[in-house]
Amino acid sequence: MEFQAELKQKVGYIQEVIRKYLPIEEGMQKTVIEAMNYSVMGGGKRIRPLLMLETYRLFNGKNQDDVEPFMAAMEFIHTYSLVHDDLPAMDDDEYRRGRKTTHVMFGEAMGILAGDALLNYSYEVVSSAVMKSSNTVLAARAMTILSQKSGIYGMLGGQVVDVENEGQPLSKEKIEFIHELKTGALIEASMMIGAILAGCSKEQVLVVRRIGQQIGLAFQIQDDILDVVGDEQKLGKPVKSDEKNNKTTYVSLVGVEKAKREVERLSNNAIETLQRFQVRNIFLEELVKHLISRDK
Ligand code: IPE
Ligand code: IPE
Ligand code: MG
Ligand code: MG
Ligand code: MG
Repeated sequence: MEFQAELKQKVGYIQEVIRKYLPIEEGMQKTVIEAMNYSVMGGGKRIRPLLMLETYRLFNGKNQDDVEPFMAAMEFIHTYSLVHDDLPAMDDDEYRRGRKTTHVMFGEAMGILAGDALLNYSYEVVSSAVMKSSNTVLAARAMTILSQKSGIYGMLGGQVVDVENEGQPLSKEKIEFIHELKTGALIEASMMIGAILAGCSKEQVLVVRRIGQQIGLAFQIQDDILDVVGDEQKLGKPVKSDEKNNKTTYVSLVGVEKAKREVERLSNNAIETLQRFQVRNIFLEELVKHLISRDK
């Protein structure tokens, strides 16, 4: 099948997986559940669950039931990070995934609570999945990675250094630290979880981690590029958000052309490393290539 058609089919499947795990909008706390579902079901690209699934398939993982709850939980954590990232105290953006941001739609308090709820709910999903998993030890290891890469040593840590340094000139090293944590960590975790659940050795998981790091850094550099040269309609979120918030970004530091070359270099490195495994997943390699020139 052609890459675009295969991508569409796989994202359709992921949508179904995510939908299956969403909480039902009922009870006195219905509003926050509506806000959670509203945030999750906007037009996200679902890159993280896709990378998780394809890494799982690369290493011959066959038990869809083991990986699906992690795919959903990863998207919930990522969505929570976006909901909070858009809050007035953070990037203060009003448009996300092609619609009004959660706090604009439901009010700031509900935006904060919906983010918290998504984070907590992801662990409700995953911890009960650990009990049901065909391999409890692997599932527990995967859950450890999920929690570590979301917190102070991962995404949240990166967001902290990002907001702390608004308006300050930053070195390339510091930008890369921010990018690797705020965005790289969840992408890394997605691939590592796929590898762990498929039963990879510790050494293989470390290689996958390195690949995820490179894809993650490239992904955020591309995000910075699109913030400058992207199309709001296509992106489903505002451009020039970084400029508005006085962020030093990869682009403001080295310019669009050099940033593009860096995305290419990192992605090609990741692909080459992927090709060194005994096993291959051509779709996964094509996906990494596709991300180099993504326009949304
Ligand atoms: C946006 O992530 C924020 C970053 C970490 C760069 P995505 O570009 O994956 O956003 P969605 O999920 O497709 O909306
Ligand atoms: C945020 O980076 C990464 C997150 C952890 C949410 P950005 O602030 O650049 O993400 P966008 O551009 O708003 O999606
Ligand atoms: Mg931000
Ligand atoms: Mg932002
Ligand atoms: Mg951005």
